[in-house]
Amino acid sequence: MAFFRFSRPAGNSPCSVYDGLCCLVYTPVLSDAVPVIIDKTHRTWAILSIVALAVLAGLYGWYCMVSPDGPRGGSLPGLAFGILAAALMVFAGLLAARKKMPRWRLGTASWWLKGHIWLSLLSLPATLFHTGFRFGGPLGQGLMWVYLVVMVSGVVGLLIQQYVPRLMKVTLPEQAIFEQLPVVTRGLRETADDHVAGVCGSLFADPEEEGAEGFEPQRILRSFYLKTARPFLAEAVPEGSPLLNPTQSQGVFAQLGEALPEQMLTAVQAVEQVVDERRQLISQLKLQRWLHGWLVVHVPISIALLVLGVTHIVTAVYF
Ligand code: HEM
Repeated sequence: MAFFRFSRPAGNSPCSVYDGLCCLVYTPVLSDAVPVIIDKTHRTWAILSIVALAVLAGLYGWYCMVSPDGPRGGSLPGLAFGILAAALMVFAGLLAARKKMPRWRLGTASWWLKGHIWLSLLSLPATLFHTGFRFGGPLGQGLMWVYLVVMVSGVVGLLIQQYVPRLMKVTLPEQAIFEQLPVVTRGLRETADDHVAGVCGSLFADPEEEGAEGFEPQRILRSFYLKTARPFLAEAVPEGSPLLNPTQSQGVFAQLGEALPEQMLTAVQAVEQVVDERRQLISQLKLQRWLHGWLVVHVPISIALLVLGVTHIVTAVYF
């Protein structure tokens, strides 16, 4: 996404993972402001949409007054509202085509997104004025339900895209590209492996050494690392790991520190820092899923809407 730039994270991380991965790790570009979808550049669109809504409502009021049988979708004004609603929905759907063709010289991506949001919102009153607030038979009702799901998912997605990037900036000081999360995770795991192997000689116990006197601290660290910390640094995080919770994790590391001699504490602190970073990546993954996940509802349902809309038009014209 455009909100981020590649950079080396600030601070003195003992994790040499960043030496190899600094090109993959990135932080928010802007120190204070995180770009949001709705900003003041939407003002003109908002004002024009409100004016258009007022004009449409006025026309609908006049149309109700002059129609003795009340508003009907098949009347001339009803059809005009229907054609307008369909055109606005088709325009909304064209956003997908615009995104697939970034080289089109037909307006900027931001212009299309603004148009998408405001004109598709305007399609709601146009649709209601077309139907006269009645939804007819099963096809009409189905169409309205699908339409409502598209609108609601669009508004929910907009709110997510408006607030999640801010939340990510506040809660996650360091951020990685979604696609690079597995690589960054592997780098963290290798860094922690090195720290543990550095004080234990090897990650895996030598059977002779295992029972020997004087090797108890290595056994404790290795056992903790292999049973608790390393699985947490795997790509799939084990459910119920105590390291998922920052307070619990702090407690676990404090307990481990007490059981080990001083010369091992630097390695323990380094592993704890890697675990903290992994926890941040997990939170980030969850937020990223929210950021993109809503489109899984919005896009297929909007395709269904366009298909049902065409069916509605064909049945209305031919039957
Ligand atoms: C007739 C109604 C609508 C249709 C047919 C429609 C269709 C679509 C489609 C096909 C996309 C995917 C574009 C892509 O990523 O390829 C999309 C994205 C989106 N829609 Fe809608 N939509 C409608 C209404 C709305 C409404 C009411 C809102 C919010 C008020 C909204 C907000 C969004 C947003 C924020 C995106 C994501 C754009 C991005 O991430 O670049 N949509 N819509």
